Amino acid sequence: MEASTSPIYWLLSRLQLLYCLGLRPIRGASHVERLEYFYRPQAEIYDRSRKQLLAGKETMLSAAHSAAVKGTWVDFGCGTGANFFHDLKATREFKRVIGVDITAALLEIARRRMQREGFGSIELVQCDARKFKLDGPGADLVTFSYALSMFPEWIGTLLHALSMLRPGGIVAVTDFYVSDRYPPAGLKRQRWVTRTFWPIWFGFDNIRLSSELLPFLVSNFELLYLSENSNPLPFMGGAAVPYFVFVGRKRAGGKLEPPMGFEPTTLALRKRCSTS
Ligand SMILES: C[S@@+](CC[C@H](N)C(=O)[O-])C[C@H]1O[C@@H](n2cnc3c(N)ncnc32)[C@H](O)[C@@H]1O
Repeated sequence: MEASTSPIYWLLSRLQLLYCLGLRPIRGASHVERLEYFYRPQAEIYDRSRKQLLAGKETMLSAAHSAAVKGTWVDFGCGTGANFFHDLKATREFKRVIGVDITAALLEIARRRMQREGFGSIELVQCDARKFKLDGPGADLVTFSYALSMFPEWIGTLLHALSMLRPGGIVAVTDFYVSDRYPPAGLKRQRWVTRTFWPIWFGFDNIRLSSELLPFLVSNFELLYLSENSNPLPFMGGAAVPYFVFVGRKRAGGKLEPPMGFEPTTLALRKRCSTS
């Protein structure tokens, strides 16, 4: 039996995850330092430990792959690159595949995996997503799985990424979230305790649950797929955190309207890193 499949390894990796997510205080003077501090000790167990935690990724990717033209796909906050391995055939159909992430510890795992699987053509860019610049034609698909809730300035980053998406291109997002007290028609309203408890709980790990993200996506894109669910978390006695899956199409000529009160400052940032 391989060490990584033994029950003892499983138990140890669960305990390590519990320690990293729930008990170990996060240190670091900047966003990237805090991420390195948070992810470095769990990088090796990241993929195994997130299978249950990050629900909805398969659904998001299947819906996105079937809707998108197979030109350029950019996965923002790609981490260990797991999204590229969801459906190898679909990934290979894209002309160009780019993963953008700020955390070296997770990108190291992604690079090793690409080499092992003979996937050298995928471009991995270590960069703050706010500063990523796509060379060449616009993207046909942009994806964010459990990434926007970790970006300090999510709306600016999202608007920046969406500016690279060509009209008719596909945006696909899955993430933890909370509903507004009075959500727009068609979206679920969660109970007060849900809306209050989860942002506090995830806040300890610098994960920000937004009530504006889903309404923003729904009002700015042609809807192709939407589900709002909740996922029982390990070690939480059955308590379930809300998450959504959204897949939409960018309208031709449509101007994206940020939610009230948000300034898209990121759009003004100069080029800092790119694939070239
Ligand atoms: C919860 S993980 C999700 C990783 C992967 N998308 C997945 O589904 O497994 C969040 C990711 O966002 C990345 N991230 C956080 N802030 C970022 C930023 N400003 N720019 C780029 N990546 C960022 C982290 O390094 C991490 O890999």
